[in-house]
Amino acid sequence: MKYMTHNDIRNTWIRFFESKGHKLFPSAPLVPINDDSLLWINAGVTPLKRYFDGTETPESRRIVNIQKCIRTNDIENVGITKRHQTFFEMMGNFSIGDYFKNEAIEFAFEILTSEEYFGINKDLIYVTVYPTDKDAIARWVQCGLNPEHIIPLEENFWEIGEGPCGPDSEIFFDRGEEFDPDHDALEKFKNDEDQERYIEIWNNVFSQYNSKEGVDRKDYQELPNKNIDTGAGLERWCCIFQNVDSNFETDLFTPIIKHITELAEASYTGQKEYKIIADHVRAITFALADGACFENVGRGYVLRRLLRRSVRVGKNIGLEGPFMYKIVSDVVDVMGDAYPYLREKRPIVEATVLEEEKLFLKTLEAGERRLKELVKDSTDGTISGEEAFRLYDTYGFPFELTLEYLNELGYTVSKEEFDKYMTMQKELAKKNAKNKTAMASQKKVLLDFKEDSQFAYGIYRLKTNVLAIFSQDEIVDTIDHDCYIALKRTCFYAESGGQVSDTGMIVGNNFKARVLDVFKGPNGQHIHKVKLLDGTINYNDECELVIDRERRKQIEANHSSVHILQYSLQQTVSNTIKQAGSYVDDEKLRFDFTYTGKMNDEKLLEVENFANQMISENLIVSTEIMPIEKA
Ligand code: ALA
Repeated sequence: MKYMTHNDIRNTWIRFFESKGHKLFPSAPLVPINDDSLLWINAGVTPLKRYFDGTETPESRRIVNIQKCIRTNDIENVGITKRHQTFFEMMGNFSIGDYFKNEAIEFAFEILTSEEYFGINKDLIYVTVYPTDKDAIARWVQCGLNPEHIIPLEENFWEIGEGPCGPDSEIFFDRGEEFDPDHDALEKFKNDEDQERYIEIWNNVFSQYNSKEGVDRKDYQELPNKNIDTGAGLERWCCIFQNVDSNFETDLFTPIIKHITELAEASYTGQKEYKIIADHVRAITFALADGACFENVGRGYVLRRLLRRSVRVGKNIGLEGPFMYKIVSDVVDVMGDAYPYLREKRPIVEATVLEEEKLFLKTLEAGERRLKELVKDSTDGTISGEEAFRLYDTYGFPFELTLEYLNELGYTVSKEEFDKYMTMQKELAKKNAKNKTAMASQKKVLLDFKEDSQFAYGIYRLKTNVLAIFSQDEIVDTIDHDCYIALKRTCFYAESGGQVSDTGMIVGNNFKARVLDVFKGPNGQHIHKVKLLDGTINYNDECELVIDRERRKQIEANHSSVHILQYSLQQTVSNTIKQAGSYVDDEKLRFDFTYTGKMNDEKLLEVENFANQMISENLIVSTEIMPIEKA
């Protein structure tokens, strides 16, 4: 096998899929955009969800990407196992209603085995398939894979929440007998048990059904648009092409671990602390560079936990003062070619990490003081598990530290009671966790609807004709109840960019309807949700549209205020402030922004004064429609 660096692997992946007509989509930020259903981007497909469920049509139906991902559900395993990480990269190829299973399998076989790409001996490749997926089995065999290397497994079905889902085929690499001392790896593999010889390197999902709660899997409907979603963990590919046993021995990690040993003035012999720190600093660096911050809730809290965990385990290997900020530069050096923006973000990420480390070290000191008080007040030589838990929860004081400290003084604490509180907290966290990749269901009628509908911005009234009437997933010619309609032209704004849609009236010769909501269909037309007040709507009916002008004016004013607020923040607080999202309706606005420093009352007042000053100047407001790149 040839030796490949992580950059070689990424580049080869992209080169192959580009040669097969795929468009390279840059890695989306780790912080999901306009998607409240999850904390982090956690798979290559997550930023592409809106294409998969048909909400939007992509500029290319063949996509290749290498997506930064964070998953924290198995955080306890990081450092313990060879392959658990919080931050990782997923290489993927995607078809949005273009090619399907046959080509996906052909592509996979070619890129894996062709000398021009990865050149893996086909005898070292195994695949698992969904037992009833005869097409997948047949295609693998046609490609030249040994039928004995095709293993049916019931587990091979990819499904998260409602929406597109389907059978998948996982690809494994045989690392050879040296990883199979008891000669039972194949048997275990066939029984879906853990073993070290055959490692999974790529999952190909054949997204062909629509999953629905309460419906049996065998009764799922076929999707109108079948999709391909694949994911290959870059770190595992590095293991194979660098011939090492664990992800932490690849060139993605070794420079970081080396620097940690220098800082700790110790030697590395595989201790978990080094792996935890190296993993967490990657996640923290990328997350901060993508606009996340340390906070007490949500994703900010996840980051805070990653940093605190690193600082705590750092103590075990002799790292006392702040040190995480010093290894940010190693992440930047390793990843800078693939993610050049990291270089520019480095100073701000380092400063933010340093500040957070100092804060935590102070917290730990406060915890120590509290522990001293508890010991002083204790009459029976113990402190309660509940108190130990409070120390952990409030001060971030780890149980092991509490225990060590108490042992030195000849005191004890109940681990069982501590664990009870810990479990209670975890249950609560699980209940609140949002880690789903659920997609909406595809609407075939809208996917197929390709007729041209114009949008005229800046006018409040216009005459036009009914272009299509949608009811219960069908196009109908005439209707006498509430429905969805498209128009040849419309002046109704469809919900987008955080601005709510217009409401208003549509009046024809034979009907009167109230527009309640407007959204963009997958092919861009504005679709009006209407309440029919009177009469019957027919295809091609002439009609007049009148939007609620006063409401629109209020929305426009709030929309302008978003821009004023952003400008005020940039002028008075920091020019690094960037928009992270917004919501605008006729009554209020919300502006989300990223800023790593602290806001206080004085700063808020300054922003407010600046914004009010701008508003009182009564500046002329103009609107221009332009392509996104220009904007
Ligand atoms: N979305 C699939 C996965 O995460 C490829 O495994």
